[in-house]
Amino acid sequence: MMPGKSDTRSHFPALGQMVRGKPLVYLDSAATTLKPRVVIEALNQYYQFETANVHRGSHYLSDRATAKFEAARIKAQKFLNARSEQEIVFTSGTTDAINLISQTLGRKFLKSGDEIILSEMEHHANIVPWQMLAAEKGLQIRWAKVTDAGEIDRAHYLSLLNIKTKIVSFVHCSNTLGTVNNLSDLFSEAKKVGAWTVADAAQSVGFLSVDVQKLGCDFLAFSAHKIYGPYGIGVLYGRQEVLEMLPPYRGGGAMITSVSQEKSEYLPSPQRFEAGTPNISGVIAMAVAIDCTT
Ligand SMILES: Cc1ncc(COP(=O)(O)O)c(C=O)c1O
Repeated sequence: MMPGKSDTRSHFPALGQMVRGKPLVYLDSAATTLKPRVVIEALNQYYQFETANVHRGSHYLSDRATAKFEAARIKAQKFLNARSEQEIVFTSGTTDAINLISQTLGRKFLKSGDEIILSEMEHHANIVPWQMLAAEKGLQIRWAKVTDAGEIDRAHYLSLLNIKTKIVSFVHCSNTLGTVNNLSDLFSEAKKVGAWTVADAAQSVGFLSVDVQKLGCDFLAFSAHKIYGPYGIGVLYGRQEVLEMLPPYRGGGAMITSVSQEKSEYLPSPQRFEAGTPNISGVIAMAVAIDCTT
């Protein structure tokens, strides 16, 4: 919670400007939020005084950066009520997280003829990665209809579920309609046919209390920039048992236990999915942004 939330305007430097003689008004937070001073200061602090790589140095600054980086993971775990911080994977955002799921779970476990259910109210980030996977593997995408009231048509959705349904991926709060979908109900139906469930929480984490255990999802994704945080950073929550079955998304440093000329062995989650130097400043500032949101 930002100190003195009643004085919201003063926390956002951007809102201190005048436009055509009037204080700036910003009404596009669904696209991206303005950044409060505390988040900007967290970025500055890291770049000015704390710059070091994480998980690969044995010196003062590296230890400090690593401690803050991993504290941010615990912050995100608590934010989503995940069971363990191992279930929190840092990605570059919602889009990246959904691509991670389609390219790991989808590539490894789905086969020709399998089906994926999306709804007619999905953001492109929750359509295109699945279309790419469907074209590659010969899958079918089934579309749950949206009613005139702007809700997922439950009866139509239930009629689509069958044993070929392998993934159900729905938006939690629609960026176009504002509808908040009852994902715990919809996902419990998906579980009856053994499907994996994915929640696109890009819009919902900013104003709802999101609890992955109550939603009953296997995966959930959000982007920091929609909750006062920086760009190029976000979270993929994955249920531990499912993450453990997945192959790496990208190869590189920081995700391996050993490398030889013949082959490499991979670390468990979350490091398995975090190849290369991560967005350290973004992760640290995202933790501050989560404090502003809750
Ligand atoms: C519902 C929803 N899903 C996914 C996204 C994609 O988020 P990003 O561009 O941060 O990856 C957005 C962004 O507008 C969104 O509103």
